[in-house]
Amino acid sequence: MKTELKVLFLGDMVGRIGRKTVEKFLNKNKTNYDFVIANVENASHGFGLTKKNHDELASYGINCMTSGNHIWDKKDIFEYIDSSEYLIRPLNYDKSVRGVGYRIFNDKFLVINLLGKTFMPHVECPFKALQALSEEISFEDKITIIDFHAEATAEKECMGYFAQSLGAKAVFGTHTHVQTADEKILNNSCAYITDAGYTGGTGGVIGMDYEISLKRILTSIPERFDVVDSKESVLCGVEVVFDNETNNPTSITRVFEKYKDEGNED
Ligand SMILES: [Fe+2]
Ligand SMILES: [Fe+2]
Repeated sequence: MKTELKVLFLGDMVGRIGRKTVEKFLNKNKTNYDFVIANVENASHGFGLTKKNHDELASYGINCMTSGNHIWDKKDIFEYIDSSEYLIRPLNYDKSVRGVGYRIFNDKFLVINLLGKTFMPHVECPFKALQALSEEISFEDKITIIDFHAEATAEKECMGYFAQSLGAKAVFGTHTHVQTADEKILNNSCAYITDAGYTGGTGGVIGMDYEISLKRILTSIPERFDVVDSKESVLCGVEVVFDNETNNPTSITRVFEKYKDEGNED
């Protein structure tokens, strides 16, 4: 039995340039990791995830795909979400919503997805949803990892300590697309970062086109967003080493890489 397990977690992947950047990184580094998780809510042209892109990402070696508020934006999600072996959507949507909010891999990794309650769509309370799940499944005897897809930093940090108190071993924030520099291990048992950051094109606004973003902010009139037209990209995430016996994290390190010539959106 391996004494330690190394997990890679990548934040929101934006558009084709984000997917291709992840492919390039994993082609080189996949063998360094025992388990790879990526947030895919923006992977198909910035919004949602098509079945085609879902299968493409699985072929790169991603073991678990987490998501967020944008996962519903491509309508074919409703055709395949119930048959995917990789994808989870936030647990705290109404019970009638398709898909699952957590998944167990190799009887070792329990991955849970939650949506924040501050400045986010109205969903059930993520804290109460997590508490209820912890009463159904033991978090302690697995490497329990949470993707907390949320806007407010205080809510995210609070979730870190709350999840740790329930036995979770990692809480990674997503959604803001900006990597924070506060990676740490809470009470020696839960790896934490407020936001893992995004993977996608640079030179725009959180991976999207600047002009359109500005127009939306100035006019408050909805306009179709587009992925930034860029040949340069970043890859953002964290890698965490877990003790295979205690399941506790022993280190958390930010991953931040720059790439050139990834090609434009198509
Ligand atoms: Fe996102
Ligand atoms: Fe989001």
